[in-house]
Amino acid sequence: MIGIFDSGVGGMTVARAVETLLPDLQIIYYGDLARTPYGSKSPETIIEYSINNTEFLLSHGAQAIIIACNSAASVASEILRQKFDTPIFEVISPAVNRAVATTQSGNIGVIGTRATIRSGIYTQKIKQKSPDLRVFSKACPLLVPLVEEGWLNARETKMILRKYLAPLKQKQIDTLVLGCTHYPLLKDLIQHRVGKNRIKLIDSSIEVALTLQAYLDENPDFSKTLQYETANKYFVSDITKAAINTAEKIFGRHIDLKKV
Ligand code: DGL
Repeated sequence: MIGIFDSGVGGMTVARAVETLLPDLQIIYYGDLARTPYGSKSPETIIEYSINNTEFLLSHGAQAIIIACNSAASVASEILRQKFDTPIFEVISPAVNRAVATTQSGNIGVIGTRATIRSGIYTQKIKQKSPDLRVFSKACPLLVPLVEEGWLNARETKMILRKYLAPLKQKQIDTLVLGCTHYPLLKDLIQHRVGKNRIKLIDSSIEVALTLQAYLDENPDFSKTLQYETANKYFVSDITKAAINTAEKIFGRHIDLKKV
């Protein structure tokens, strides 16, 4: 069973990508809706919540964990790896690898929550791989609430996107990392704003699913121990109408959220 957690329902874009790529795997999801958003919280608080979420998933049978929240991954990945003896995947490194492999101009843009951008983790990891690349980051704190409200095609969302993306376009980026699991829901709007042929979008939900697939292929002994029998489970620490709607939008079907 693969445990996936996020601060809310945005991480379901990761669950959806895993389900699409590896349909036989059983997923157990935890969305910490009662304490969302993480992106505006301190690293200490995000680390504490990430430990709670991991413990919850492990106590419910998870055999590997995906941190499906950039804000959590940016500050808590190493601590979770030290603390728990379970494979821990996160959304940042796979997206970095893809961005570095994709850019031709050497100018990479990254958008994310304040916590993710403030951590500097994308710049650090991209520079570690290739010191000559230039990274331009932009915190986009209004995007998560807009997605949570379901304003996926609203005029206001388009205006805000224009404002956030203009400085990155000026830097002549050719690759843009969607450094927040909510942003794949705005992918079409973002792609339209930055220009389809000019800038390639990197979707961390797809990249982390591919990384998990590669890990399972390379570690057959581990893969064999995974349970495959029962249906996927979606737990949340609070239920709201907006969350139910967003989950439905992500999966294209009704998702039974269970409050714990
Ligand atoms: N899903 C979170 C992320 O990827 C953003 C939501 C939040 O701020 O909690 O960073």
